[in-house]
Amino acid sequence: MLLEIEDIRVHYGKVEALKGVSLQVDEGEIVTLIGGNGAGKTTTLKTVSGLRRLSSGRIRFDGRDISKVPGHKRVRIGIGQSPEGRGVFPGMTVEDNLLMGAYGRKGPEIAKDLAEVYTLFERLAERKGQMGGTMSGGEQQMVAIGRALMARPKVLLLDEPSMGLAPKLVQQIFSIIEEINRRGTTVLLVEQNAQQALKLAHRAYVLETGEVVKTAPAADLLDDPQVRAAYLGGDLGVADEKAAPPAVPEQRAAPEGEETQS
Ligand SMILES: Nc1ncnc2c1ncn2[C@@H]1O[C@H](COP(=O)(O)OP(=O)(O)OP(=O)(O)O)[C@@H](O)[C@H]1O
Ligand SMILES: [Mg+2]
Repeated sequence: MLLEIEDIRVHYGKVEALKGVSLQVDEGEIVTLIGGNGAGKTTTLKTVSGLRRLSSGRIRFDGRDISKVPGHKRVRIGIGQSPEGRGVFPGMTVEDNLLMGAYGRKGPEIAKDLAEVYTLFERLAERKGQMGGTMSGGEQQMVAIGRALMARPKVLLLDEPSMGLAPKLVQQIFSIIEEINRRGTTVLLVEQNAQQALKLAHRAYVLETGEVVKTAPAADLLDDPQVRAAYLGGDLGVADEKAAPPAVPEQRAAPEGEETQS
């Protein structure tokens, strides 16, 4: 087991956002976390990457209890996160943005990893000298994922990578995630685009108001009537890629009590 979340509770002030969530991710898997707005998906990822503190429970990674390991150290032990939203440095070139992901690492592997990121994202290779802030939304999403990969994560946490993207780019991002996994990185994927996420993932968890209400092989959930009704836009007969709800960019007031801005 690469990542094991055991019965975690997380609070924002008095509000309990996660009410005892448990989930596991095996090495080599793509696991997806689906659920409606406010279910606790982002909170779960932030707690794994150390941006949120847990009130109780435990997180084990690669054989050790990391519950108390600070966030910046979790990157070094192999937890990579591409945050919800984009977080690209606007005044830095695409290449410098990517190199920020290798911060703290040294040596010739960095150039090799950069070349590898460019083979995944040809668009970034073409635009390596362009300022991050002038890249399109979809391109910035690619920069954010590429930057996370530059830290050589064992597990990559992806929060809504398809958010706000045109359908063609959505397809592209999903096939890139598949390729990242094929090249050996374990993936924990949060998506509103449940149809696509379930097609890609090996296993899935359904989160509702801070609790895991279902877990199964992803393919089984594609056929699950309750999941179809709640997250896949309806009947067995009509569901196809076009029936998946479009990813909605989220609007939220300034966070209260946020420990680290992502
Ligand atoms: N910084 C914060 N301060 C206060 N409450 C928060 C904060 N961040 C999240 N919450 C609350 O915690 C709950 C879980 O939020 P979270 O962002 O994890 O949901 P989510 O599943 O990622 O939703 P979405 O699909 O909209 O991104 C929500 O009720 C939300 O309002
Ligand atoms: Mg979220």
